[in-house]
Amino acid sequence: MASLLLLLLFLQVYPSVSVDHLSNDDTSPLRSNVYGNGKIIDITHRITPDMVVYGSGGVGLGQFLWLKKSIKKGNNSNSSFMKLSVHTGTHVDAPGHFIDSDFDAGFDVDNLDLDVLNGPGLLIDVPRDKNKITAEVMESLSIPKGIKRVLFRTSNTDRGLMYKREEDKSFVGFSADGAKWLVENTDIKLVGIDYLSVAAYDDLDSVHIELLKTREIIPVEGLKLDEVEAGLYYVNCLPMRLVGAEGSPVRCVLIS
Ligand SMILES: *[C@@H]1O[C@H](CO)[C@@H](O)[C@H](O)[C@H]1NC(C)=O
Ligand SMILES: *[C@@H]1O[C@H](CO)[C@@H](O)[C@H](O)[C@H]1NC(C)=O
Repeated sequence: MASLLLLLLFLQVYPSVSVDHLSNDDTSPLRSNVYGNGKIIDITHRITPDMVVYGSGGVGLGQFLWLKKSIKKGNNSNSSFMKLSVHTGTHVDAPGHFIDSDFDAGFDVDNLDLDVLNGPGLLIDVPRDKNKITAEVMESLSIPKGIKRVLFRTSNTDRGLMYKREEDKSFVGFSADGAKWLVENTDIKLVGIDYLSVAAYDDLDSVHIELLKTREIIPVEGLKLDEVEAGLYYVNCLPMRLVGAEGSPVRCVLIS
């Protein structure tokens, strides 16, 4: 009984641990989060129909792939189309997401700085006793000057929020004063977070505007930060070159 409880606790804290390897025979593919004997860790969430989507009313993403050509229907290849919000799953925001003049001026995901999205970065644990990343929390983290990329792991990861189809409004994100503090007191340009928004629910507009108006800071949202140790890594995030789009799904990996 005690061990069952322990197992349940473990599963609750690390919800994805058991689905790492779905299968390992010749007929079905191996799905992994880790490559090269642990050197490369995928911190991107898989896009699935059950995936949480903000504003879906608990329905989730739903169908996002359509097989337009299929071998079984007589075509000589399988060929799919996809349709999904550019803010689906693990994704980046461009300035045009909240600043309309930047949208019109073309500050889209095509001109995000790949030098910000790729380079050394810190994965840190935010103290779990606060429900927002405030100026006070930011100050207490004592992130050294010169650190350009930080992935903030919060209770969103412990709670497995990205694995729940229903949206959760109680997720941890930045408060307006936390975002302002980051802009004014740190060199952070890549701000990674483990739920769909870098901003806490009550501070959605103000935080996005505070960060995006710099045109230098890139929020990377919906990161998969379970099963990774805190520490220093080489971060690699590559969005799609969607001209005119204020966001893009992104593949992010950590290399140690
Ligand atoms: C090709 O499409 C069929 C459906 O017509 C599907 O069952 C099959 O898995 C697809 N093959 C590949 C390689 O995706
Ligand atoms: C193949 O795919 C196209 C859609 O791209 C479809 O119009 C056509 O009917 C399909 N079947 C065959 C046998 O080519």
